[in-house]
Amino acid sequence: PEEKAAQDAAQAADAGQAAAQQAGTVDPSRPMVALTFDDGPQPSVGNRIMDCLAQYGGKATFFMVGDRVGSYKTEVRRMVAEGHEVANHTMNHKYLQKLGAAQIQAQVNQGNDAIQAACGVRPTLLRLPGGNHNATVMANAGMPMIQWNVDTLDWKTRNAQSTYEAAMTAQDGDVILMHDIHGPTADAVDMIVPALKAKGFQMVTVSELAAAKGINLENGGAYGALR
Ligand code: NI
Repeated sequence: PEEKAAQDAAQAADAGQAAAQQAGTVDPSRPMVALTFDDGPQPSVGNRIMDCLAQYGGKATFFMVGDRVGSYKTEVRRMVAEGHEVANHTMNHKYLQKLGAAQIQAQVNQGNDAIQAACGVRPTLLRLPGGNHNATVMANAGMPMIQWNVDTLDWKTRNAQSTYEAAMTAQDGDVILMHDIHGPTADAVDMIVPALKAKGFQMVTVSELAAAKGINLENGGAYGALR
């Protein structure tokens, strides 16, 4: 009976945690990571990722390419409806360090406009294609630039097992980079999300992570791990 009571308590705690995440609340006293996905939307992959996160109670941040979102509005709206963060990965996935000030601003603003037009939410975070930046990019991005500190190299290996192993090196406050345009990445997420949960990690959006850690994300600032 004692064992049963402990099991019941553990189940209740699990249910409580799932409910808390459903309500958009994060427990700052428990470890957390931000799963981030670049280069979408791509419904065949993104919907699988969201199915998995819905099942286990987690949120992600999707850094989307503006010129793709108009074709996949249903997926983008689902991101918003399920509490994920919609974020900007420029309008055309241009390497911004090769552009001048006006072109940089246009890539950022058009990306925000496209995402807002698709789902009604204007992004507050930017991820630079390739992570590439220089002084002109820093001065003209006009948004917080979210880099990463756990690089799964999923785009390169296209291998679920190696993507999984890379993601599982994450620690509290880490920002994990993946790409929601490759099928093997969705296969990896099916392993990563339950495994992170079993290790006690909350899976939160980048904005939730920054807020929980008391970090103010400033326009023109670049950020890796948030701890
Ligand atoms: Ni990219």
